[in-house]
Amino acid sequence: MSMRCAVFASGGGSNFQALLDRKAKGDLSVEFVLMIGNNSKAAAFDRARSNNIPSLHIAPSHFHSEEEYAQAMIAALTEAQTEFIVLAGYMKMLPSRIVKEYRNKIINIHPGLLPAFGGKGMYGMNVHKAVLEYGAKISGVTVHFVDEEYDHGPVIMQKAVDVLDDDDAEALASRVLEAEHDTYWRALEDIALGRICVDGRRVSVSAGGVASSSPG
Ligand code: GRF
Repeated sequence: MSMRCAVFASGGGSNFQALLDRKAKGDLSVEFVLMIGNNSKAAAFDRARSNNIPSLHIAPSHFHSEEEYAQAMIAALTEAQTEFIVLAGYMKMLPSRIVKEYRNKIINIHPGLLPAFGGKGMYGMNVHKAVLEYGAKISGVTVHFVDEEYDHGPVIMQKAVDVLDDDDAEALASRVLEAEHDTYWRALEDIALGRICVDGRRVSVSAGGVASSSPG
């Protein structure tokens, strides 16, 4: 039985699309059962619709308290029999109740090599600008479990991307995004196939994992 995943997205959802494409190719043994977004204009909603994935617009401002907000999310996740949550460009901190209920069952992708260039405010172009301003020679992608702190949970997979001498933030962002699209599905597939073992902060992938890059 494939793992039932909910995807949370706030924006364009190119990572969501890359996962959908991998699933269509037969590379990803998960079922996308729900998409939740906090921004009704997010293109991710169109991607959900065109793939017949039920979607829900849930934003903190719709509720009187964090508890009601969390409860609405839990109800939707439970109804869809969600086993696992994939954050794909989700710009809101998840209520801690969700993190608790789905401990080590929520992943995020960050456009940098954590723990560098992570934390509150470090998202999107801010990351790439900071990498260039610092003069780092390598940036990349981190897939990690989500805990109560920004960009902090155990690291599952990382992929390095060279910073080139003539890079501007846009050029670096687009190479990193390409690497994201080639990395996120590998981590998710390893999890879906039960190949991931978590021991505190140490995450290992058993033999036969899909961590190594291949064209595609
Ligand atoms: C990606 O860079 C991802 O690393 C970050 O948010 C961005 C989302 O892009 N978490 P997209 O919406 O998947 O195109």
